[in-house]
Amino acid sequence: MSNTYQQRIKNHILDEETFLSAVFSGQQKGKSVLWEKVSLRPVLLKDKRHIQFSYFDGKQDISKNYAGDELAEKVDELLALAFKSIALRASSGDIRVQITKKGKAIIHQDKAPAKQPQQPDLSHNHRKDLILPFDKPNPFLQTIGIMTAEGRIRAKMQDKFWQINRFLQLVHQSIDLKRLSHSPLRVVDCGCGSAYLSFATYHYLSDILERPTQMVGIDLKSDLLQRRGEQARNLGWDGLRFEASRIIDYTPAAPPDIVLALHACDTATDESLAQAARWGSRYIFSVPCCHHHLQAQLPSVGQAVSLSHKPVLRHGILKERLGDILTDAFRALILRIMGYRSEVVEFISSEHTDKNLMIRAVKASKPGQAQFLREYQAMKAEWGATPYLEELLGKEFPYA
Ligand SMILES: C[S@@+](CC[C@H](N)C(=O)[O-])C[C@H]1O[C@@H](n2cnc3c(N)ncnc32)[C@H](O)[C@@H]1O
Repeated sequence: MSNTYQQRIKNHILDEETFLSAVFSGQQKGKSVLWEKVSLRPVLLKDKRHIQFSYFDGKQDISKNYAGDELAEKVDELLALAFKSIALRASSGDIRVQITKKGKAIIHQDKAPAKQPQQPDLSHNHRKDLILPFDKPNPFLQTIGIMTAEGRIRAKMQDKFWQINRFLQLVHQSIDLKRLSHSPLRVVDCGCGSAYLSFATYHYLSDILERPTQMVGIDLKSDLLQRRGEQARNLGWDGLRFEASRIIDYTPAAPPDIVLALHACDTATDESLAQAARWGSRYIFSVPCCHHHLQAQLPSVGQAVSLSHKPVLRHGILKERLGDILTDAFRALILRIMGYRSEVVEFISSEHTDKNLMIRAVKASKPGQAQFLREYQAMKAEWGATPYLEELLGKEFPYA
């Protein structure tokens, strides 16, 4: 391949500094290619540059991400296919390759980039509909360390930036602000940690929607919260404050309208759901983290009473995933019993985090609906397990 157009194209794709995108399309005369079009672009996954290949077969797109040796192999595979044209963009100059009917490669190369050299865009997900734009300097994103002083998302914060953006998108799609007509809005972020989500939500509600907001971030890490509190004050955000407390021990001055929890560890998610249900909060948005409590109650394969459970319980990884699924199913069902319309939806692509489910709930009906109670009893009997959320709610859940 040395010195061929294939080698040049490959070198450009592998060049981390300059490669922006490439599109392979069309078919050479008398030959066929499985894909109508394949597009390539750099993305950052877990702080590492990958190239995303989007294979389009005329009906659907399949995306795969590759790095290192595997990337080089996949580029070779692509270049071996009989595409008719390749359009490559690089900050060092664009290249277009056209294969003639006789199979000859015509190569056009821009000698100099038409505009200022660009940086490869490593944002993994589509940019449209982002509530927090990635390309405009934003004082709060700079203050909390997601964006550089020059207005660029830090490489190692790409995943977190996408997570909070996606969280806001789901909040935006779910909240009917007309139903929350009082002022100020009250919001609690449970297990807020570094408080990226608390800052982002406060910015969304108070700056973008211009709704007076009182927001409290709760966590066990008092030092971290103190620093974040100072940063909020420096931004002049009087309505955002932080309190060091266990979620389950926190007593708000007034019941919050909205309760958030992003990756609150293990049973901290249950604490936030229990508190939200007790407070009668109208909206709950919770992205659970690891799950251990229920898993430990699942029988081992030798103890399993049901023959049909054995094939799942036999394999550690399946048992673990079953524990995750049952935990979230119990959580969503308990919220339904407590009078919430709850749903479990995908939060973000699993490439950003494998903790990628969101329990989204809105207070909608009377508690104790018979249908959900029957489901709950059946589920507990089937799996011989009691979810932690039931224990936490205690007397406030008289349906056990
Ligand atoms: C994985 S971090 C997530 C932080 C943040 N929500 C985010 O997504 O960036 C989980 C946080 O929950 C906090 N946490 C765990 N158990 C808690 C509890 N019972 N009460 C309050 N905070 C808790 C931890 O201190 C930690 O900061």
